[in-house]
Amino acid sequence: MGLQKCQMGHRSAITLQPLVVGRPRTVPPSSRQQRMFGCGGFLMAEGVSGSDRPCATHVPHARITSTRIVCEVGQMRVAITGAKGQLGRALVSTFGVDHEVLPLDLPEDDIKDLALVSRLAAWRPDLVVHGAAMTNVDGCTLDPDAAYANNALGTRNIALACQRAGAELIYVSTNEVFDGLQETPYLEFDRPNPINAYGRSKLAGEDFVRMLSQRFYIVRTSWTFGHGGNHFVEKILRLAEERGQLRVVTDEVSTPTYVPDLSLAIAQLAETHVYGIYHLVNEGQCSRFDYARRIIELAGLTGVETVPILSKDYPRPSKPPPNAVLRNYCAASLGIRLRRWEEGLEDYMGSRRAS
Ligand SMILES: NC(=O)c1ccc[n+]([C@@H]2O[C@H](COP(=O)([O-])OP(=O)(O)OC[C@H]3O[C@@H](n4cnc5c(N)ncnc54)[C@H](OP(=O)(O)O)[C@@H]3O)[C@@H](O)[C@H]2O)c1
Repeated sequence: MGLQKCQMGHRSAITLQPLVVGRPRTVPPSSRQQRMFGCGGFLMAEGVSGSDRPCATHVPHARITSTRIVCEVGQMRVAITGAKGQLGRALVSTFGVDHEVLPLDLPEDDIKDLALVSRLAAWRPDLVVHGAAMTNVDGCTLDPDAAYANNALGTRNIALACQRAGAELIYVSTNEVFDGLQETPYLEFDRPNPINAYGRSKLAGEDFVRMLSQRFYIVRTSWTFGHGGNHFVEKILRLAEERGQLRVVTDEVSTPTYVPDLSLAIAQLAETHVYGIYHLVNEGQCSRFDYARRIIELAGLTGVETVPILSKDYPRPSKPPPNAVLRNYCAASLGIRLRRWEEGLEDYMGSRRAS
């Protein structure tokens, strides 16, 4: 990877200006060029405090050194959609070490907004990592139009921006494109057959990526957890504290995936320029029930009883694929390997306790 590093800075007062894409003219030239750092649809400049903006909070390698946020130009200009989400934060942090990063998210940068196509293209990204999505699976079933608007048409817009800018695209997709009826883990060559609105809308996003992009990676992952997310781990811990007993399904199986591991694997993949479909999950697999038990064990919650149930006893609006375990076949062929999910979970629980 190149030597690109982001340096961000502000005085006590910073004002926000609407996004100005492209190279700002105010940036002084130097042997290592510097540019204003795009931030969630805005550029930061002198004015009020910007410490609550995504740039300031999501790029831990940033240093506060001057009156404005600047980036030293290195290897790539990387735009990241869904930058405030759990995966997005990890991606901004990972790519921010070596690259110039443009974090995009709601409310300023709505992927449904066609105007974003030209704004993003004009920033001239080398790579767009597209993680923004409507991720509430039951919400997608209750409002499939919204699911398609975000996950299908939103992805079309991002793919169009990449086409216009000549940028590579990494689209983050899901194991829920599969029906989960296969008894063995799904390879990248297996045929998708989604059984819920979320899976259908994400697959429609994949189709747009394939139709509109030439240089793309589709990265399917599953059951992600990481800091700042409202995921299964946090839900189990919350419920365990509220109730003495948890009922968890045994007939839904997949692989929990720790977002820092995923984010690093995505960055490694981006270096290969070997385009195509990839499954990227931590190693191993488990049922929701086993997963919950391990979470409770690691949290040291001794008085909590975990009761195994079947999904038919846990009615919800959407039907999840029962056995949607992914196998990282194509990534392994490039030497990209992720550790076991239990190790990622231990790290997460440890850092959670420490914070
Ligand atoms: N979570 C999982 O278990 C899982 C599994 C497999 C694949 N994935 C995929 O991984 C990616 C990242 O997921 P995640 O878990 O990090 O989800 P997340 O925490 O919900 O993050 C998604 C981010 O995208 C934003 N967003 C939603 N609609 C948008 C729009 N129209 N324009 C711009 N931004 C928008 C969300 O903002 P709001 O919060 O304000 O809506 C949120 O900040 C998604 O593509 C998802 O489909 C997730």
